[in-house]
Amino acid sequence: MLANLKVRRFDPETSRPEPYFQDYELEVEDWFTVLDALIKVREEIDGTLSLRCACRASICGSCGMRVNGRARLVCKTKFDSVWSPGETLTIEPMGNMPVITDLITDFNPFWDKIRQVDPYMQPTGPVPKAEYLAPNEDMVHLAGVMNCIMCGCCVSDCTVLEVDKDFLGPAALAKAYRFVADPRDGKTEERLKDLNEPTGIWDCTRCMQCVEVCPKDVDPMERIMVMRDKAIEAGVKVTAGSRHTDSFVNSVKRSGRLNETRLTIESIGIFNIPGQLAMAPVGLSALRKGKMPPVRDHGIPSKKAVRAIVEKAEEKN
Ligand code: FES
Repeated sequence: MLANLKVRRFDPETSRPEPYFQDYELEVEDWFTVLDALIKVREEIDGTLSLRCACRASICGSCGMRVNGRARLVCKTKFDSVWSPGETLTIEPMGNMPVITDLITDFNPFWDKIRQVDPYMQPTGPVPKAEYLAPNEDMVHLAGVMNCIMCGCCVSDCTVLEVDKDFLGPAALAKAYRFVADPRDGKTEERLKDLNEPTGIWDCTRCMQCVEVCPKDVDPMERIMVMRDKAIEAGVKVTAGSRHTDSFVNSVKRSGRLNETRLTIESIGIFNIPGQLAMAPVGLSALRKGKMPPVRDHGIPSKKAVRAIVEKAEEKN
């Protein structure tokens, strides 16, 4: 099959310092992966094309790229699963990372964030005389998150990182969960406190992109949500995110609906005067336009039924 590729190129060391797209036309076999196609380009058409790969078996995590705008391991992506005859396949380097050249990104910021979550076991208490045996069910549960191969696909497509480079990001937070949920680790509370800081677990917007693109089904966002619950259970409640969660649930239980005015005030913190003052212009603007819900709850008629549903859900958790 004759296929067309559009590949984003970039080499700051040439006389063309801005990124640009280059088109390639090549024959692809029906067993080709996207990586096979790129290697064919490099070996038979354009030896200057730079890309990174090693295992070619979705193990090493080095071949993450954006294919038609979505992060993927290109060695795991069958060419004909993302392309149809007559179409052009667009390939770019991963997002949210500096590009070194062509399809190769700089992983240093990625590793810096992994280091920030202390990615190693910190047991406390007496050292066991023999091997520490963890309960089987705990290890089975952890196997899912330990499948992470650090490919960076989740980081590439994280919508929070696009606007806040300081956010720890899904890969580092999934790594943090790996230790928070490990019964052999003794620093759970300290870890949760650190993760409650700005740029931590409460900055995720639950857009699900990391879950969508993870090639190993690590489900980073789900891990982040569990850490939020664990933080609240552990009494680590000094963040806007935690207060937001409490206020949201209380509002729905009280009146059957969300009171957005109270939600804002309570999330910021009632005694956080600078924070409240900073929100005042937004409140005034909403008030002028008749968009400010009253502070006092206007409950819906079936609020008792809604409260029963919330309480049932709380029991289940
Ligand atoms: Fe190793 Fe793709 S080359 S994961």
